[in-house]
Amino acid sequence: MALVTLRQLLDHAAENGYGVPAFNINNMEQGLAILRAAEACDAPVILQASRGARSYAGDIMLRHMVQALAEMYPDVPIVMHQDHGNNEATCLSAIRHGFTSVMMDGSLLADMKTPAPWDYNVAITAKVTEAAHAVGASVEGELGVLGSLETGEAAAEDGSGAEGKLDHSQLLTDPNEAAEFVALTQVDALAIACGTSHGAYKFSRQPDGEILAMSRIAEIHARIPNTHLVMHGSSSVPQYLQDLFNKHGGHMTQTWGVPVAEIERGIKMGVRKVNIDTDCRMAMAAQFRRIAQEKPDEFDPRKFMVPAMAELETLVRDRFERFGTAGQAHKIKPLSMDQMAARYAKGALAPTAKAA
Ligand code: G3H
Ligand code: 13P
Ligand code: ZN
Repeated sequence: MALVTLRQLLDHAAENGYGVPAFNINNMEQGLAILRAAEACDAPVILQASRGARSYAGDIMLRHMVQALAEMYPDVPIVMHQDHGNNEATCLSAIRHGFTSVMMDGSLLADMKTPAPWDYNVAITAKVTEAAHAVGASVEGELGVLGSLETGEAAAEDGSGAEGKLDHSQLLTDPNEAAEFVALTQVDALAIACGTSHGAYKFSRQPDGEILAMSRIAEIHARIPNTHLVMHGSSSVPQYLQDLFNKHGGHMTQTWGVPVAEIERGIKMGVRKVNIDTDCRMAMAAQFRRIAQEKPDEFDPRKFMVPAMAELETLVRDRFERFGTAGQAHKIKPLSMDQMAARYAKGALAPTAKAA
């Protein structure tokens, strides 16, 4: 199947009341495992590449990899999305390399460390949206800064995220500001901050409403019911993967992620895109550790990759089932970027309009 845009997929998800996981990819094995799961579940999928993934694999490799996956799995609608674009150049070069969707993350300055002022975020996001919509690509913006409500800090482990201490007014997206931001920028989807953060160390205990503010999502959804909401930092950091990792020589301190049941609740409150990277990393890394420990003489990388891909496929299938994505792929009739561009030009896809 041809690639589809984020806007088309999330409109379908909103009309049919489901959520779509967005899995980060960096290499062929992740792509294959995710697409095997999608095909088995009849699920559409969002693949996303961070700036780090683009420099790891290279734009040409990523473009051909995603085209190959689309050819190999013709029944799966695939969105190819730029995760956390830091400026116009990152977003526009992604579109030039075949991405159908970009995130312009103007919640931070281009260094991806400094919380950005409102005017900067609005201006840069609106500029990217205008350019992207002209060619039919979709845009996700972000308002509010990802980080822990327990510590006031963003996770440092992946080398990005706000530096220093943040207060709750920065860490929780304001519903009225969200409405104004969407109206001013015309984004197709809005990433919100509700206490989640990137990486494995999100919560020091099983999260409750104090540290994972699901009520804030409900308030934002009530204010902008037709805007597709995005939850970043949505790995669940499952206990079984922590245990598998640690059983085979790993040293991961006990930690808690976002419970899948909370994400299911979020989907009922307008969350349509659910970003997951850490869980996928853990699934593969735990199996690498197991093979390395159980078979110290093994040196064929495929013997590490095959179980790692199987573990990832199991995780991905579970998320498709629980988010309601399973069983939806065959219902989607792909629209080309040109068709999407024509709809934007007609004003048929204003974010406050009913889903098209
Ligand atoms: O945004 C965070 C994602 O987990 C991507 O991480 O920049 O290490 O590829 P990365
Ligand atoms: P996790 O670190 O929770 O997987 O979040 C990934 C993410 O938000 C990518 O943008
Ligand atoms: Zn993110």
